[in-house]
Amino acid sequence: MPESGLGEIQTLAMLAPLVLGQAANLGAATAFAHMDPPTPWVTWALTLWNVSLNQNLLHPATAPVVRNIEQLVISWLAPYFGMQGGHMTPGCTVANLTALWAARENAGVTEVIASEGAHLSIAKAAHLLGLRYRTIASERTGAMIAEALEGDLSRTVLVLTAGTTSGGRLDPLTLAGRAGWTHIDAAWAGPLRLSARHGDRLAGLERADSVAVSAHKWLFQPKESAFVLFRDVASAHAAVSFGGGAYLATPNIGVLGSHGAAATLLLATLLACGGTGSPAGLTGVWKWPSGWRSSLRRMRTWNCWPDRRRAS
Ligand SMILES: Cc1ncc(COP(=O)(O)O)c(C=O)c1O
Repeated sequence: MPESGLGEIQTLAMLAPLVLGQAANLGAATAFAHMDPPTPWVTWALTLWNVSLNQNLLHPATAPVVRNIEQLVISWLAPYFGMQGGHMTPGCTVANLTALWAARENAGVTEVIASEGAHLSIAKAAHLLGLRYRTIASERTGAMIAEALEGDLSRTVLVLTAGTTSGGRLDPLTLAGRAGWTHIDAAWAGPLRLSARHGDRLAGLERADSVAVSAHKWLFQPKESAFVLFRDVASAHAAVSFGGGAYLATPNIGVLGSHGAAATLLLATLLACGGTGSPAGLTGVWKWPSGWRSSLRRMRTWNCWPDRRRAS
């Protein structure tokens, strides 16, 4: 650490060759398997807004607009997955943990069953939550063999993967509903649900109790951006909420405490792409929820952007 500061300009000049010059080129076609997409430039602008405003979504007083933006974005996306609602998380590791946490609280489950191709975050979540973890017979590619799922599953969370990490395979999603709780880890393939052409590949997903999707994969968001959705969002959120009262006027939902406004970047991307295009090739296949324009107008705090001149 330098004794005294270098000043901003010199700092940027010093860091540019390192941070910009030696970064991995994840936008290259050969980097597809890394799942980290090129990001639409509108999200670069929104990132600057976010870091300069530094809103904290923990509490309405510290994020009067962007909490509502998150709810709006979730309300647009949840119906594609047959879910009622949910919240954003920094990735699907946390989304999966949150879903299994809700399952443990609300469905009294004691074990997690997944395919051999399931992401390590499922085993990690089971471990953290004190749930037994078991994989069942899977194809050579890692996808679950439907016939291998048998016995009493009433105290089991069945985790089905939509897009396995190594092979992009789909577990048989029509198994959703066979266990005490079904969670679909759709970190990778989830955004296919927004495609009029490919959405049916994930048929069955709508019968799950919870779904996790990484927006920083096929929704082209900068990290960190993901969401967890629930079929019964009121009871799931109640199960994973703490606090309220003296410290917080509203309960703290989910794993995170203080967190930033990833949803504004997602909103900007969805608005900028419109119904006919997307930044990286889903052109023309996104269906749009009806009434999106009026739901934006209805947002109570939409006109409450802080007047920074008056504040200073
Ligand atoms: C299927 C699957 N689930 C979960 C995750 C974890 O997501 P994240 O890295 O966003 O925490 C990944 C990451 O690649 C994944 O492929």
